[in-house]
Amino acid sequence: MTLKLPKIIGHRGAAAYAPENTLEGIHTAADMGVEWVELDVKLTKDQIPVIFHDDTLERTTNGSGSLANLTLEELRQYECGSWFSDSFAGIKIPTLEEALEVIIDRDLGFNMEIKPCPGRERETAEAALDILAQIWDDHNRILISSFSPICMETALLMAHDWPRALLIGEDWPENLKEIKEYLELTCINVNAKTVQREQVEEITDMGLPILAYTVNDAETARRLLRWGVDGVFSDSPDIIRETLFSVH
Ligand code: G3P
Ligand code: MG
Repeated sequence: MTLKLPKIIGHRGAAAYAPENTLEGIHTAADMGVEWVELDVKLTKDQIPVIFHDDTLERTTNGSGSLANLTLEELRQYECGSWFSDSFAGIKIPTLEEALEVIIDRDLGFNMEIKPCPGRERETAEAALDILAQIWDDHNRILISSFSPICMETALLMAHDWPRALLIGEDWPENLKEIKEYLELTCINVNAKTVQREQVEEITDMGLPILAYTVNDAETARRLLRWGVDGVFSDSPDIIRETLFSVH
């Protein structure tokens, strides 16, 4: 495995420029010259992995209620573009399979974040990893990640040879080294707002690369890169790219 992480990963596609977690977002990121995208995967009631961030539909669709209570067919009655802008009105929540086809077609790398609705950790990881294994074959341009240790344990079993990252939120685990060894992690993804310099060093000392989410301003990107972070997730990859070109 010779994973080569990019310095910039388009967050939820390119979330500042197109509705998050949509095929249009993937195309927008590719059009901007972004090398990798990050998308969130959840499971419908009928066990189909779809690309979506929240547990509920209100924020990014014209529907309401829990995503986990709807079948794919029911979910497709709603649209997920107008909340962002009228020019995206009518677009639909994509399945993981549809997203993978576009990612491959546009020659992008992919960070698949498994983001289960509460209580659906194992089944979400299993379904997502099943689809991924059927479609994806470039082990150097994929990263499987999750905040959920259960999802990462499932990934350890089902995708042992694939690069895998644990996402860490605001609470820093005391036993990170043990977690890293148990889950056989390839990378650790940290919260850009709360991570401390010593915490970045703790990971660097373990010999793992570090990605930080979500960085939309030049100053934060510069500071994190200086600390030893390898790459950042950004809604505005163009702003971060300008920053990188100006740092030497
Ligand atoms: O995977 C990085 C980042 O996407 C994690 O946070 O809430 O944007 O999925 P969130
Ligand atoms: Mg995410």
